[in-house]
Amino acid sequence: MMDFSHDPGVVVVTHPLAQHKLTLMRDARTSTGEFRTLARELSVLLGYEAMRDLPLENVEIETPLERMDAPRLAGKKLCLVSILRAGNGILDGMLDLVPSARVGHIGLFRDPETLEPVEYYLKLPDDIGRRICIVVDPMLATGHSAAAAIARLKQAGAENIVFVCLLAAPQGVACLRAAHPDVRIVTCAIDRELDGHGYIRPGLGDAGDRLFGTK
Ligand code: URA
Repeated sequence: MMDFSHDPGVVVVTHPLAQHKLTLMRDARTSTGEFRTLARELSVLLGYEAMRDLPLENVEIETPLERMDAPRLAGKKLCLVSILRAGNGILDGMLDLVPSARVGHIGLFRDPETLEPVEYYLKLPDDIGRRICIVVDPMLATGHSAAAAIARLKQAGAENIVFVCLLAAPQGVACLRAAHPDVRIVTCAIDRELDGHGYIRPGLGDAGDRLFGTK
């Protein structure tokens, strides 16, 4: 049994609202429409936690009563990066929080022979090196795609990266922490295991299929 409770780089969002919504998403009876709505709502809560360390600066403002120095975001720009396709399901909730963030996309598939992730799509903002990157994918299963996606972002210049998922397998967390110890992981839960077919157990099934109504 792997234990990440003492790793400050692994944040499990235990807020009751997050846990409640995750349980609804796990339930096989939840429809595609409800699942998509819940994913969006949960991504707001995950984004809130992922952005906890955004730098602030004081600005002088005037309230209706007096002048004050008040904190506002210090202008460090954000880039959300969705790992296709399921990452898109937790993108919009986060964009609700930071509408001016740039959005990158990365698509990877697993080569059936080498089992290595192969990139089939990449579009990132040119100034990614100057942005805080939040990489999103609902399921951190083996961790191989997430690790490969983050390696690609680093190659493109990204230095400050957080990984956000709904649900993780212990193997995925261990893999990503080993490959990228500088990358904080924010998730709603770390489940029991990864099964022989690459599914997280007890999990919530195939996140992409449940989001988009495919089989
Ligand atoms: N991807 C999913 O969508 N579900 C899993 O359980 C594992 C990977």
